[in-house]
Amino acid sequence: MKQLANKHILLCVTGGIAAYKAAEIIRLFKTAGSNVRVLMTKAAQEFITPLTMQALSGNQVHADLLDTEAEAAMGHIELAKWSDVILIAPCSANSISRLAAGKGDDLMTAVCLAAESKTFFAPAMNQAMWADSRTQKNYQILIKNNFIPIGPNSGEQACGDEGYGRMSEPQEIVSEVATNFSEGLLAGKKILITAGPTREKIDPVRYISNRSSGKMGFSIAEAARDEGGLVSLISGPVSLKTPDEIERIDVESADEMFKEVNKVINNFDFFISTAAVADFKPEKFENQKIKKDKKADNLSMEFIENKDILKSISKNKGDLKIIGFAAETQDIKENAKKKLNEKSLDLIIANDVSDSSIGFDSDENEVYLITEKIEKKIEKISKKKLSRSIIEFIAKYL
Ligand SMILES: Cc1cc2nc3c(=O)[nH]c(=O)nc-3n(C[C@H](O)[C@H](O)[C@H](O)COP(=O)(O)O)c2cc1C
Repeated sequence: MKQLANKHILLCVTGGIAAYKAAEIIRLFKTAGSNVRVLMTKAAQEFITPLTMQALSGNQVHADLLDTEAEAAMGHIELAKWSDVILIAPCSANSISRLAAGKGDDLMTAVCLAAESKTFFAPAMNQAMWADSRTQKNYQILIKNNFIPIGPNSGEQACGDEGYGRMSEPQEIVSEVATNFSEGLLAGKKILITAGPTREKIDPVRYISNRSSGKMGFSIAEAARDEGGLVSLISGPVSLKTPDEIERIDVESADEMFKEVNKVINNFDFFISTAAVADFKPEKFENQKIKKDKKADNLSMEFIENKDILKSISKNKGDLKIIGFAAETQDIKENAKKKLNEKSLDLIIANDVSDSSIGFDSDENEVYLITEKIEKKIEKISKKKLSRSIIEFIAKYL
């Protein structure tokens, strides 16, 4: 994350069980070349020691507001001025409440009142504390006051409960902060891309798949990253290297891809579906390898339809922009327009896969970009150049 190099990050740690994850946050910022200072509330110091934070950040930890020595060295005003960004992680329910009330009775709240830099906060608490109407009200007040929320996520909690309130993962938090410094046509935008084929298992050694190489999806991911986007890839089995600064989740089947996309889609601004997801899967998975001699002369198989990822996402799309691909062998534009409408897409990119010199497994492609109002043909070019044109089109028209 080159955007974070030499940036001044003030990490405020509050008193929650996720305080130990602040250590990993510091490590990630340091690896990216940032200069990190740590501020800890009194409660935070009960969860993780200032010594750990000092050792990891390479800087003295700040904790006291009314400390003559600290004030002389780096008081609350200087600390506020020093920071390019303030990140409160984890941010407890108590701290959210005190910040919402505009308090300034400890170092963390005083710095946040004095700071003009962007302030991010990553709530972390038990699901009931998070759901409490007072926490929700305070959280909204912070957002109205230009604090930028990161998470929380849903999942298993330290106390054994399940639900919203779990702090976002350190990598997710640091990436969010990095987007604050991005430049380009998609600066700060979050983009989820699916790529590659899926494999539908028949028995432990056999599967049905398709010829997708994943090249188009990976190339679009790089182009979106180069324009300042925060990109995540969900990829079927491909032999491609994960591009730098792109998060990648690997899946095999259409069911797995459906599950992973639905798990994270709420965090994204754009969904670009380049994956060649199998429409059908064998109705029955044979636990043992199907033996040649056991199946007379003809082996037949029943198929059932896979769940449609694009359709399921577009049902509750809200502000999400959805971009789909249509690999067709005939009536390309007509079929693509049908898909655009049926799946409520914002843009469809259609190509002719009957021509083996373009599309699947090739390094080149020729496509139509079709929205409700615009239709544009891009003549045969490399997938790399095409990806840049697609990203420019998305940034301009969507
Ligand atoms: C073991 C333990 C775990 C806690 N975990 C959390 C937590 O995850 N989130 C939270 O909001 N409060 C949690 N609390 C309560 C806070 O520590 C408490 O509200 C404290 O006053 C927060 O102070 P601060 O916001 O100034 O750091 C926990 C308390 C204890 C004893």
